[in-house]
Amino acid sequence: MTPISSRTAVTEQPVLDVFAERWSTRIFDPAAPLDEPAFASALEAARWAPSASNTQPWRAIVARRGTAEHRAVLDALMGFNQVWADAASALVVFVAETAREDGEPLTWAVYDTGQAAAYFTIQAHAGGLVTHQMGGFHRDQVAAAFDIEARFDPISVVAVGLLGDPAGATEAIRERESLPRTRRPIAETLLVDA
Ligand SMILES: Cc1cc2nc3c(=O)[nH]c(=O)nc-3n(C[C@H](O)[C@H](O)[C@H](O)COP(=O)(O)O)c2cc1C
Repeated sequence: MTPISSRTAVTEQPVLDVFAERWSTRIFDPAAPLDEPAFASALEAARWAPSASNTQPWRAIVARRGTAEHRAVLDALMGFNQVWADAASALVVFVAETAREDGEPLTWAVYDTGQAAAYFTIQAHAGGLVTHQMGGFHRDQVAAAFDIEARFDPISVVAVGLLGDPAGATEAIRERESLPRTRRPIAETLLVDA
């Protein structure tokens, strides 16, 4: 079994360390408070993500463990996500602004929100945090819990915190953490490589 501590990607080409070393853990330290400076930097990185016409069509709900807001986000997670994500120091909901106040659609909102989340995760890992993005949650439940306007769409929940002790995790989670990380080869991704 691959040891949990060596989940660094074996890349086809050199990349920045943080890209190879970022991975989605399901083992968070349930006692670790949020590393506020590292977290603030991750939000700052998201802030500087590019977006169509600089519309920045993203918002975030930050729910630190122990708050009612955290409980509300946790309750909206689907199935297995609820089992491990509660140990993260915070759950962050990335929300896309899909239309302006006047109703004009923001066509790239979901794309741009994904970029902001990606920037967030990369900066978080560079700062010593670990993250795990989730699409498995009830969007309507989150929207209702936080009274979000219809033109905003919750897209992903990101668990963020410190890496926990694998010894404290269930066997099922330890096994999933130990699977090798894989990707499709670049040659199969390029539809055209003229
Ligand atoms: C948009 C999105 C939704 C995801 N949803 C879930 C989820 O609901 N539950 C989960 O355990 N992992 C989820 N993941 C994590 C992916 O399974 C994970 O990123 C992928 O397997 C690659 O693993 P790595 O991030 O460790 O490289 C999601 C990731 C993304 C980007």
